[in-house]
Amino acid sequence: MSANMDNGKKINRVSIPDLASRKNGEPVVSLTAYTAPMAKILDPHCDFLLVGDSLGIVLYGMDSTLGVTLDMMINHGLAVVRGSRKACVIVDMPFGTYQESPEQAYRNCVRVMAETGCGAVKVEGGREMTETVTFLVERGIPVMGHIGLKPQSFNVAGGYRAHGRDRDEAEKIKEDARAISNAGAFSIVIEGVIEDLAADITREIHAVTIGIGASAQCDGQILVTEDAIGMFSEFTPKFVKRFSETGDEIGKAAAKYAKEVKARTFPADVHCYRNK
Ligand code: KIV
Repeated sequence: MSANMDNGKKINRVSIPDLASRKNGEPVVSLTAYTAPMAKILDPHCDFLLVGDSLGIVLYGMDSTLGVTLDMMINHGLAVVRGSRKACVIVDMPFGTYQESPEQAYRNCVRVMAETGCGAVKVEGGREMTETVTFLVERGIPVMGHIGLKPQSFNVAGGYRAHGRDRDEAEKIKEDARAISNAGAFSIVIEGVIEDLAADITREIHAVTIGIGASAQCDGQILVTEDAIGMFSEFTPKFVKRFSETGDEIGKAAAKYAKEVKARTFPADVHCYRNK
């Protein structure tokens, strides 16, 4: 835990060593958050909040994450840091801001960390990112990796599908996991891979594995919050469980509001300012 001050009161935020120590321990709980009010609601229940570049699809209605910019991630990262007190905040590095060279990655990660106050950054990629991850970690930037289904590479990988059924592919994903863990990533998101492969990787590497569509064999779990609460239904992968139907509830509230406005029953007396 690291201590922050808030109106003189000490807040203990989950630190990177806290997360790293959860290998083979109590499962790590995490969800995505893009805004301060959502961060405030999720914070008491999560070890970390991920400001995922999924916000391009979920919040901005894009077709993929490829159009997400560094400024968008910084603005939302700052909002989530402001809205949370306890959870570690991790910010996704968007497409094109870290793949060119370790130096480019370092410059952009420094901006994200300095301008948001987040605890770590997440980068997608396997063996090809080894040099960059080492470069970042050696210079004080905690890195979370992301392997298996990598949404920023969906044009090359051929869309969204389960990974690791094929032996060669499974071996490559394992090599990706080893490479990123050995390069110093404290944790790796494993997305959309078969259970046996996720279990093998989790057993083998030092880094804490966070599964999304990768079974309960991982060291922790993450979901896109809007998927989990029924606020995003354009596309629901097999691995998503709906824990509530919040979208339906919002629709019902809006319908009630519209009815009362039309009937002039809202605003009522109690909602009006009057001369005393
Ligand atoms: O962008 C995102 O929300 C993510 C999670 C799905 C892990 O990378």
